[in-house]
Order: sequence, then structure tokens, then C-alpha cells
Amino acid sequence: MRGRFKSWAPSLLEEHPEKGVAGKEDPFFALSPDLEIGGGKGMFAIRMARKGRAILSLERDVSSAGTFLKRLLALEEEGEPLPIRILRKDFDDAGDVLEGHLFPRIYLNFSDPWPKKRHEKRRLTFHERLLRISSYLAPGGEIRFKSDQEPLYLFTLEECGKAGLPILLAEEDYSLDEEEDAMSEYEESFRREGRKIYRIIIGRN
Ligand SMILES: C[S@@+](CC[C@H](N)C(=O)[O-])C[C@H]1O[C@@H](n2cnc3c(N)ncnc32)[C@H](O)[C@@H]1O
Repeated sequence: MRGRFKSWAPSLLEEHPEKGVAGKEDPFFALSPDLEIGGGKGMFAIRMARKGRAILSLERDVSSAGTFLKRLLALEEEGEPLPIRILRKDFDDAGDVLEGHLFPRIYLNFSDPWPKKRHEKRRLTFHERLLRISSYLAPGGEIRFKSDQEPLYLFTLEECGKAGLPILLAEEDYSLDEEEDAMSEYEESFRREGRKIYRIIIGRN
């Protein structure tokens, strides 16, 4: 699900290391941030930060991460600095920064569905990866998954079983919890089209 390559994005990201995290010891971790995996262009993190949450957002695509950073910088310029950091990495390669940290919430919003059976290991909620994701949850922490894809929703419920992770909530027609949640870019456009949104909240084992 890749948009057009933005040639300015790599240099913008390089010019702003302060909007990323400089390794495990970065002082940003003292804010007890939530972790978002696949933050896209950042609207979800921005909206959640406005509700008082600090967010570390992983985004592997350089163009999306660049657009996200551009938004953060513009907001800062307008006098709205937000507690958000962007880590331009794939979750599978982010252990060097994440290891040793525990997050109160981990968000998986509209993860790439990888619909072909032969690609199921690539899905973020493949049980081995889901278990690794859950190893970064603080006690009482939650993985919060949303998708418009019923097959990915059903697959994720099954993978929770394989990983031995408790399903705290599963709903097939989620109407937004305005207090504790916010819409991502994808969610906004799917809701506009009248599509159903599936949600799962997963605990730690
Ligand atoms: C379908 S988009 C959804 C974007 C956003 N979460 C939203 O709901 O609007 C999925 C995003 O996750 C990113 N992504 C997918 N797998 C990832 C991974 N393993 N690590 C980091 N980012 C990932 C993709 O680059 C893409 O920007």
C-alpha cells in the first residue's frame, strides 16, 4: 500500500533527528509513550496526542514518515508542539530501540492485510509477530487493533489463540470511542464510505 515516492522526504527526516528517538536511552521514553506500528501520515498519533497521550510511531515507508514529520513541524510552527516521535523503521528491525521498554498501549490501525494465504507471515498479527509485539506491553497494557478487513479481523482472533493472548474485546461494527480513541486517515475514509470497522483489544499473557 505504497503512495507516490516523495523525493524530499529522506532529507527532511535526516534534518530532524530530534523528532525521532536516538536509541533506547532517549529521554522521550520517560513520558511512557504508547507505541503505534504503521503510523502512516500521522493523523491518528496527532489526534491521540491532543487527547494527552505521548506516542512513538513506527513507520517503515519513507514518504509516509516524511509527510507525518512535515505535519508535526507545521503544527509546532503554529504553536502546537505535540509529544510524538517518528521512528522510520520496520517493526521487525526496531528491537534495538524498543528492547527494554514497555508500552501502555500498542496501536495497530488498518495494518496492511496481505490477503494472499502465502503472505500470511507478513501480516503484523501473524502469531509469532503478535507475541513479539505483546512482549512490549506494560502490565495491564493493551494491543488495540482496528481494520476494515473482516478476513484480517478473523485471522487476528485466531492468531491471538495460537499466541495464547487474551482477547479483551472483539467487535464487528465499532462506533468510535471518542474519549479513548481517534480516527486514523484510513479509518476516516472508510467510515466516509460507510464501511464497517472491526476492532480487537488484546491483553498480555
Ligand atoms: C494501510 S496503511 C495505514 C496507515 C495508518 N495506520 C492509518 O490507519 O491511516 C499501513 C501503514 O503501515 C506501515 N507498515 C506496514 N507494516 C509495517 C511494519 N512492519 N513496520 C512499520 N510500519 C509498517 C505501512 O508503510 C503503511 O504506511
